[in-house]
Amino acid sequence: MRIIMLGAPGAGKGTQAKKIAEKYGIPHISTGDIFRANIKNGTELGKKAKTYMDQGLLVPDELTCDLVVDRIQKDDAQKGYVLDGFPRTIPQAECLTDALNKLGSKIDFAIDVDVPDENIVNRMSGRRACLKCGATYHVVFAAPKTEGVCDACGDHLVLRDDDKPETVQKRLDVYHEQTQPLIDYYNGQGVLKSVDGTQKLEDVFQAVVAILGE
Ligand code: AP5
Ligand code: MG
Repeated sequence: MRIIMLGAPGAGKGTQAKKIAEKYGIPHISTGDIFRANIKNGTELGKKAKTYMDQGLLVPDELTCDLVVDRIQKDDAQKGYVLDGFPRTIPQAECLTDALNKLGSKIDFAIDVDVPDENIVNRMSGRRACLKCGATYHVVFAAPKTEGVCDACGDHLVLRDDDKPETVQKRLDVYHEQTQPLIDYYNGQGVLKSVDGTQKLEDVFQAVVAILGE
């Protein structure tokens, strides 16, 4: 099963993608997590990506597409994967479609997690992230067992650098301009599904499972 998660920053793509990955036994591939891991490890890619991410801008397509096309060809992705945060521009979507055509493969579902902008800023200020394993929490809606500590790997949780309210607004503007057009793109491919992301996260997941099947 090959799945793309669409939706604004903070809509809950990462939260739902993790649950999908667990239930269906497929890897969760998040370009944001890959970039943040590279920043943490001080790689060249991380240094380049950070300048864009800190401003709420997208990392250039040429640094992003090859990375994902390589990743989806790894052994663990042969039965499928859930892409989170990629594609997020029309050129990235075209790059992915071309690569999949060459591989004789295709996307089965593009799930749009729909949340209006006014709900987003609150969610972001309460989010805490683990930069080591990519787990995401919320101080109210999805608290870790011990405050400030990742349930999954024990590392410290942080407020992401790009979760400041002014940067969140910039990310929302970028989303509407560059990423929202993908909803039409995948609708045109006949694979678009939409879920109401303002519900409780367990209810959002039930809606996702209703689409993907038990
Ligand atoms: P990325 O890491 O992908 O960030 P994003 O798209 O801005 O999305 P987020 O991770 O902020 O939100 P999410 O939808 O995953 O929400 P989450 O589940 O955490 O990208 C970061 C940056 O990297 C980009 O700005 C860009 O610079 C760069 N980048 C990445 N990919 C790129 C690409 N392909 N091309 C170019 N640049 C790229 O949930 C948010 C919070 O809400 C959490 O605290 C969660 O616990 C809580 N929550 C979730 N669901 C619910 C619910 N139903 N009810 C209540 N709370 C909830
Ligand atoms: Mg995310």
